[in-house]
Amino acid sequence: MKIAIAGTGYVGLVTGVCLAEHGHEVTCVDVDEEKIRLMESGVSPIYEPGLEELMVKNKARLKYTTDYKSAYRGSQVIFIGVGTPEKKDGSANLSYVYRVAEQIAEIIEYDCVVVVKSTVPIGTNDKVESLIRANVKEGLQINVASNPEFLSQGTAVKDTLHASRIVIGTENEITANILKEMYKDFDAPILITNRRSAEMVKYASNDFLALKISYVNEIANLCEMVGADIDDVTEGMGFDSRIGNKFLNAGIGYGGSCFPKDTKALHWLANFYDHELKTIKAAIEVNENQKFKLIKKAKKYYESFENINVAVLGLTFKPGTDDLREAPSLVNIPLLLEDGAKIKAWDPIGINNFKKMYIDNITYCDNIEDTLADTDICFIFTEWEEVRQLKPTDFKNLMRKPIVLDGRNCFKTSEFICSNVTYESIGRQAVYK
Ligand code: UGA
Repeated sequence: MKIAIAGTGYVGLVTGVCLAEHGHEVTCVDVDEEKIRLMESGVSPIYEPGLEELMVKNKARLKYTTDYKSAYRGSQVIFIGVGTPEKKDGSANLSYVYRVAEQIAEIIEYDCVVVVKSTVPIGTNDKVESLIRANVKEGLQINVASNPEFLSQGTAVKDTLHASRIVIGTENEITANILKEMYKDFDAPILITNRRSAEMVKYASNDFLALKISYVNEIANLCEMVGADIDDVTEGMGFDSRIGNKFLNAGIGYGGSCFPKDTKALHWLANFYDHELKTIKAAIEVNENQKFKLIKKAKKYYESFENINVAVLGLTFKPGTDDLREAPSLVNIPLLLEDGAKIKAWDPIGINNFKKMYIDNITYCDNIEDTLADTDICFIFTEWEEVRQLKPTDFKNLMRKPIVLDGRNCFKTSEFICSNVTYESIGRQAVYK
């Protein structure tokens, strides 16, 4: 099948490359010429394990271009996979989606299916279809289908090739059959719904996961007060298959390009209908507060950070990605800097992106040992495997004052007993030196 994809971010590029892996001819369109040049040379503009290998393997079936006209013309299916960033009021900015819809309408000469893969508020697919139909050449039959994506950064290729589900939102049987045919070699159950339900599946899924994390974080905060241990509590909860044992890790809050944006967008949408989503509102609030948990704990040790040597391990919003969007490090590091801290930071792949925001006043280190050396306190913001491998003796031997504040529960608290290291984490009892 000939397919065009507008947008080469996580959603667009991974979808395109995986469709090529299953034999389709795919043209990826982006406005950024630099990105196009990179991809043409087989380099992925995003860090995503396995993606570059598939780009190289399928290069005969993959094209990259800024020329949307030639890409859309002659394609049987055109995906819209552009960003829907958060606006100041929390709603989703749909201008990029509508721009692509206008471009499709402007140049298309044959019947085709337009698939909205971007995460869009309920009702957007209807608007995209009306917009295209109102502007397209007379006599053309253009159908728009919703097909949300459920990939996670860091496992995006696997999540696409072996998706938990493929949701196709369309009430048009021919469109459903074209898309089922397109996905026939994918290892995933296919669910056909109406367009609005498909759009809602995406938000309801992401917001449920965000809610689950905020719920666990609230229970974790209470565990600290009452002398319980959140790891034991979630292990006990996870045996119940109705609850499940995934996404129960307490920490300093969720980040990334999806949960923060999608919770706010659904909350905004409900408000638009004069309805308040109380659970989602609470999830957002809990998450905002959770990001300050470690700083609050740190104040016990240092009233001010003036000239305090601080080690920061992990900058990205989770391991396996160089993405910093909504990462807890972005909230905490400015506060520490403002308070006079001298920061040394380590992250295996996030430093270059972080440097774009904070080039001065931070010493970036290539390894954890240099980061910890002679510091007075250590903050762990991301649970990289290299961090998990550390032993209490590493902190004790390298740091000037071994105080470790672990925002991702990388270690068992029992390891720190009698270690001469002060260790605090989330939802568990502190171990004092
Ligand atoms: C999320 C969803 O998991 C995907 O299903 C969805 O397709 C994607 O958003 C999207 O809408 O594009 P992603 O943002 O890549 O994927 O990352 P997650 O692995 O879900 O993690 C998000 C945040 O939650 C991270 O900051 C992570 O540290 C945090 N988290 C996750 C916890 O604090 N506790 C957990 O138990 C799990």
